Amino acid sequence: MINDFHETILIIDDTPTNLEVIYDALDKEGYEVLVEIDSRNAIERVKYNSPDLILLDVMMPIINGFEICRKLQAEPLSKDIPIIFMTALSDPIDKIKGLSLGAVDYITKPFDKGEALARINIHLKLRKLTKSLEKSNSQLQELTNNLEQQVTQQTVELSQTQLQLIRSEKMSALGQLVAGVAHEINNPVSFIFGNIAPAQEYIDDITKILRLYQKHYPNPNPEIEKELKEADLEFTLEDLGKILNSMKVGVERIQDISISLRNFSRSDTTKVLTDLHQGLDSSLLILRHRLKSCGERPEIHLIKEYAELPQVECYPGQINQVFINLLANAIDATEEAWEKHKINKLIIKIVTEIASENIVVVRIIDNGLGIPETVKPYLFESMFTTKAMGKGTGLGLSISHQIVVENHHGKLICNSTANQGCEFAIAIPVN
Ligand SMILES: Nc1ncnc2c1ncn2[C@@H]1O[C@H](COP(=O)(O)OP(=O)(O)OP(=O)(O)O)[C@@H](O)[C@H]1O
Ligand SMILES: [Mg+2]
Repeated sequence: MINDFHETILIIDDTPTNLEVIYDALDKEGYEVLVEIDSRNAIERVKYNSPDLILLDVMMPIINGFEICRKLQAEPLSKDIPIIFMTALSDPIDKIKGLSLGAVDYITKPFDKGEALARINIHLKLRKLTKSLEKSNSQLQELTNNLEQQVTQQTVELSQTQLQLIRSEKMSALGQLVAGVAHEINNPVSFIFGNIAPAQEYIDDITKILRLYQKHYPNPNPEIEKELKEADLEFTLEDLGKILNSMKVGVERIQDISISLRNFSRSDTTKVLTDLHQGLDSSLLILRHRLKSCGERPEIHLIKEYAELPQVECYPGQINQVFINLLANAIDATEEAWEKHKINKLIIKIVTEIASENIVVVRIIDNGLGIPETVKPYLFESMFTTKAMGKGTGLGLSISHQIVVENHHGKLICNSTANQGCEFAIAIPVN
């Protein structure tokens, strides 16, 4: 049978008679046959031709076959090429030595053509099988690597989606609650507000009539006289005006709060030009109850240093969520500082400024416990919290980071020294 694949066989042998016989036989079989008669060139020859099989004579001057075999086995490029020794029939020790050095087989001289070809064919087939096995193996490995990569990627995407879901759920729950409250407040408040003006008018009318009575009947009967004295009419009339006025101021304040709450709960479908100070104030309004003194803990002082800021193109609901997260953390930190060290003045400062032409910065600074160096690397990881079970979920900063960095192409930076408070700075582009 003629070999169709032109496999290459290298014969390393210095004996011309041997060479001729084996060369002819292999050539007729259709193999590409290369010959090297100088043992000193054998190694280089293998490197450059990379044959599929080597026939190696044992007895050669200068470098013998064993030595060549050892060197080929030591080279990564040639160690997988099967080597068949050619040895004299009479020498069993050579056969064993050759096999122990890594040769796959031996053929004996003088050659039996049929046997030699059979052995060579078998080893070439084995070599081919090994090669294809190796190829499948590496394909399988590549496939596994790809799959692994895909799974990792999908896991990351999934956890991000999850985070996003939790974030939007948390936000929309808060938003719905706030919007609902604002809406419910609105009706009764407009009702009160709408009635204050007519009430004022009626009171003015009644006062006018009273004054007329006083003018035309300066000496009322004793029963009226007694009642007038008891009720202190002059004081009542004066105070009634003041009461109505302060009711009006109060109702207007509730209306402001309601507008603020509705601003806070705006849903974010597109970026809009936003007044960050309004967002900060709405967020403070929601957290105001936490700033007040509580039990023995004194009130948390709020210092606002607002610069004149341009409107910023952003998702206002998301940015408000960042403010809420950072302010809540600052409140937690000052509370903890009070619990641990009983520091008597708890302070949260909010500073806004224009950092460069297109960047505005909001700093939220507290004089709480600060952040130890060992904690800093994990701050923005989701689920990282140092707070007690049920107190912190460890999502605030990771969500805020995602909102500021990914959704607004800004920066969220923490500056803090342990026991000396903490500053979180949000820098976002104006547009
Ligand atoms: N202003 C701060 N001062 C001191 N430590 C802080 C401050 N802000 C955050 N940290 C630390 O970073 C951790 C992670 O904050 P993050 O807001 O992500 O989670 P959390 O506040 O623990 O829980 P969550 O906000 O989800 O309710 C906190 O547990 C706390 O250790
Ligand atoms: Mg938090």
